[in-house]
Amino acid sequence: MAPPKRTILVTSALPYANGSIHLGHLVEYIQTDIWVRFQKMRGHDCLYVCADDAHGTPIMVRAQDEGISPEALVERFGAEHRSDFAEFGIAFDNYYTTHSPENRHFANLIYQRLKNAGHITSRVIEQAFDPEKQLFLPDRFIKGECPRCGSPDQYGDSCEVCGATYSPTDLKNPVSVLSGAKPIYKESEHYFFKLQDFEQMLRTWIRGGHLQVEVINKLDEWFAQGLREWDISRDAPYFGFEIPDTKNKYFYVWLDAPIGYMASFKHLCERTGLDFDAYWGEHSAAELYHFIGKDILYFHALFWPAMLTGANFRKPTAIFIHGFLTVNGQKMSKSRGTFITARTYLKHLNPEYLRYYFAAKLNSRVEDLDLNLDDFVARVNSDLIGKLVNIASRCAGFINQRFAGRLAEALPEPALYQRFANARHVIAEHYEAREYGRAIREVMTLADEANQYINDRQPWVLAKQSGKDHDLQAICTQGLNLFRALAIYLKPVLPRTVAGAEAFLDVEPFFWDASATPLLTHTIKPFEHLLTRVEHTAVEALLTDTKEELTTMKNTSSSASPLSADPIAAEINYDEFAKVDLRVARITKAEHVDGADKLLRLTLDLGGEMRTVFAGIKSAYAPEDLEGRLTVMVANLAPRKMRFGVSEGMVLAAGPGGQDLWLLAPDEGAPPGSRVK
Ligand code: MSP
Ligand code: ZN
Repeated sequence: MAPPKRTILVTSALPYANGSIHLGHLVEYIQTDIWVRFQKMRGHDCLYVCADDAHGTPIMVRAQDEGISPEALVERFGAEHRSDFAEFGIAFDNYYTTHSPENRHFANLIYQRLKNAGHITSRVIEQAFDPEKQLFLPDRFIKGECPRCGSPDQYGDSCEVCGATYSPTDLKNPVSVLSGAKPIYKESEHYFFKLQDFEQMLRTWIRGGHLQVEVINKLDEWFAQGLREWDISRDAPYFGFEIPDTKNKYFYVWLDAPIGYMASFKHLCERTGLDFDAYWGEHSAAELYHFIGKDILYFHALFWPAMLTGANFRKPTAIFIHGFLTVNGQKMSKSRGTFITARTYLKHLNPEYLRYYFAAKLNSRVEDLDLNLDDFVARVNSDLIGKLVNIASRCAGFINQRFAGRLAEALPEPALYQRFANARHVIAEHYEAREYGRAIREVMTLADEANQYINDRQPWVLAKQSGKDHDLQAICTQGLNLFRALAIYLKPVLPRTVAGAEAFLDVEPFFWDASATPLLTHTIKPFEHLLTRVEHTAVEALLTDTKEELTTMKNTSSSASPLSADPIAAEINYDEFAKVDLRVARITKAEHVDGADKLLRLTLDLGGEMRTVFAGIKSAYAPEDLEGRLTVMVANLAPRKMRFGVSEGMVLAAGPGGQDLWLLAPDEGAPPGSRVK
């Protein structure tokens, strides 16, 4: 009997619109997409919406840096995100943006309802302000010395060295990351959401089966500290929605971000005629799930249910929290070259490999997940090529060549097939519970059995004997049916590969229970290669490319955005350092580069040898200031192709960026070409 049809709405967290999608993000989108595809295959009404998170100071500052409007920046990243997701097979029913009329509507509505119910208050607070940029500074835009351990260059909210958390006013010698100016403290009126009004409701709700048990302790710590009012306003200039009935006050990005889930869904309703209230109304019978990372738990498990309750909307059925991605056992890092973007990955590797690898390692807990690149290659090759595809490729050829593609009328070993078919129940339970690793283990155990079956029956031997046609066809039919069952079970994970299997088997798209009935007396199409091996060289090329992109980024942008900074460089030994050939060079020519707002094209004289170098120092120097001056350059850097031409070295500069960037100039006495010791 078919299970009752469920009505389900699923979301993933909304990625910020000022950066590219990277493999860490993809853990979440792949995890969610697998779950949604599984639900759809089961015949449920399951919808998946997401959007770009468009608002906030970092986005505004980055747009300013690039000399474009925030709308244009959001538009550009929106397009990039959509295409990255599409290539990774993330099948949203709607992908929108928080900078939308629907989102403004719901942000205002929720705010008004909270306000009318007395959950909003306002008071004057003091906040760090950049006197040069004329901007209130978020904590992450202030750096200084840690008040506890004295480490320099720490952010305004926490110390990366000793782990202390504090407020930016505690930092010693604070500077604005944007301008280097010392922040001043300025008063301004802020609006607050009274989270503590919802304490009783939240205490009950977090124990109501909506969260993984591991996070409940974390939440208890927060309750123990006492729930505090949440500052939901920011002063102009700010990229966001103006708060109704105020002047120059904007909703803090985290207020309208989760509301973006509703807005994206509303936008889908407008297109398709779905009933919004059936999903979000207080008495909705639909299921609502948010997939998020552990870093944004507070917003989703406390603020969000409180906001929804206060504004008479339904709360989520559950929040599914995952851990963070590490690469080769360490935090993703730009300097280690493991900060891999979706884009760069796609240049070298098939997205289905990553979907498979993540699935194999994902479970329902909040644990971090490691992408070990050697293991990645080994696992994909052994499981997908060596086991799964192998079953099909060993059987399909004989069916095509010897039987005109015709499958036999009956299975020679129906009991074996029945075990494969029955496995759909336990595998479904694993998917449902987000225990994808277990689902994959079940499938791969069956794949071993299928291969064992073929090894035992040796169709390639039968093919050479006369009078064995009937057996040969039967065995290959059995093999292909075992393969088909496994392909069905892997379809949520490998949509593209399995679409290839559907095509060569010449069948309708698989639904979950399709394995209940074997495929018999049916003509298949010629077998096409479903998936190729991963090569180590492709993984190496991916890492090299990732490192190169970082240097190009550093060269072309003096962006001071603290959110893109990655201060930890890997240690090098003296021999590695000694390889760097530092030379004195005279800048004989400095020119603007068409279309580049940060770069200058420098012609450098190394004592007779001329080099062209692109340097991201336009924010600090006009070309005429540079001509004739001596500088220090890295002379043995491999030439690099950039968008504007080939750069044959690198000029050294120091400083926080922007206008404070100093070329390292040697003594006037040093002749061009001489080595720097
Ligand atoms: N814009 C907010 C979310 C608003 S939701 C109403 C945000 N954006 S984000 O781009 O920083 O992150 C998007 C999602 O990706 C988050 O759930 C986050 O936890 C997840 N991840 C970002 N980096 C990650 C890893 N390195 N590993 C796993 N997930 C990570 O937060
Ligand atoms: Zn410290």
